[in-house]
Amino acid sequence: MSVVRLTRSFIFALAAVGAVLTSCDPEGAPAIPPFPLTPSHLAQIPVPADNPLTPAKVELGRQLFYDTRLSGDGTVACASCHNPEHAFSDAPNQVSRGVNGARGQRNSPSLVNVAYRTSLFWDGRAATMEDQAMAALLGSVEMDADTMKVAALILSAAYKNSWMSAFGDTSVSMKRVTQAIASFERTIVSANSRYDKYVLGERSALSEQEREGMNLFFSNKTMCGACHGGQDFTNDQFQNVGLFSHYFDRGRYNVTKDSKDEGLFKTPTLRNVALTPPYMASGDSEKGPMNTLEQVVGHYNEGGLPFPNRDTRVRKLNLTDREKASLVAFMKALTDSSVLRNPRWVKP
Ligand code: HEC
Ligand code: HEC
Repeated sequence: MSVVRLTRSFIFALAAVGAVLTSCDPEGAPAIPPFPLTPSHLAQIPVPADNPLTPAKVELGRQLFYDTRLSGDGTVACASCHNPEHAFSDAPNQVSRGVNGARGQRNSPSLVNVAYRTSLFWDGRAATMEDQAMAALLGSVEMDADTMKVAALILSAAYKNSWMSAFGDTSVSMKRVTQAIASFERTIVSANSRYDKYVLGERSALSEQEREGMNLFFSNKTMCGACHGGQDFTNDQFQNVGLFSHYFDRGRYNVTKDSKDEGLFKTPTLRNVALTPPYMASGDSEKGPMNTLEQVVGHYNEGGLPFPNRDTRVRKLNLTDREKASLVAFMKALTDSSVLRNPRWVKP
């Protein structure tokens, strides 16, 4: 069983992320802690039955996540566009550059708490993190991986031992590569912002202005929390918030081909949002840049452009300057700087 391989150091490193559950079974032997160790106030990290999380697979996934040799021209790794110092986003770039300088058309999202998302990409076109990783590895504007070269790399001295520990044999497949990378990503859990401390009962963790912003955020007046709800401030649904009067990137429509989905994008998590500018799928809007949280709040306050699919919850808010500032202050309190330097997630 995988959990048997839990090493002491691994348990201790994860203990920093959340509470370690220790209890004894009737015989008195220590019970095996659940893996991964989820922070006490978050839901258990979902793990697919066909890709159980093991420390060895997570460690292999970490190596792969940072390895530019997986890409077609040897210059790009997952981490090139998902940098831990920017909460695993590509801030401050509006769009990222992949192999051979290819320019994508969307803003690179944070990967914090990505294990909890029910679909991936701004349009939700990938259902699992394994499928998502496969798309990124093989995508011509991302990594354009040459599968033969990847296999040779894994069978070389660079990976042979960690691959054996993770999978127990030398059968190399892109599927296993994606399973290891997805396992690593599942452990990137952020739950240590001042907001989390407040939720856990430390009332003074938020200032008066931040608490005002929180109440406004979750109020019927702004409706922010209607879409940005739950532990990660997302409903995992697709909506239009009226950023453009014409969407060159048609968003969810590309997946469903339903005109009601034209211009709809997945609600992004707001955890660590202060660290991940610019904002929105395009990193931009028709009426002006989306480089700051003040600009985002300004957009919502004006109610967005009259695009036919715009969600009715996005409408003129008539907020005072103080209310706008409070909303921004609240969002800044969602920063968990322990994510940026966690030794388990940095380049091995
Ligand atoms: C060239 C930059 C680039 C590289 C390299 C890259 N990504 Fe991404 N990633 C992006 C962009 C941009 C998006 C959003 C694209 C979209 O929605 O169509 C994204 C989306 C994602 C998402 C979806 C997050 C969500 O909440 O929907 C995950 C997970 C992810 N990337 C993981 C990876 C992994 C794993 C790798 C390496 C195998 C990788 N990325 C390589 C830029 C990159
Ligand atoms: C109808 C659902 C909905 C409501 C209401 C809503 N949002 Fe959003 N939010 C979204 C969606 C969807 C996006 C992405 C839109 C896009 O890229 O086209 C988004 C994007 C954002 C972003 C950018 C995050 C990033 O990483 O790019 C911020 C910040 C944000 N919203 C804050 C707020 C605030 C503050 C409010 C209340 C004033 C609010 N939202 C109300 C659905 C909503």
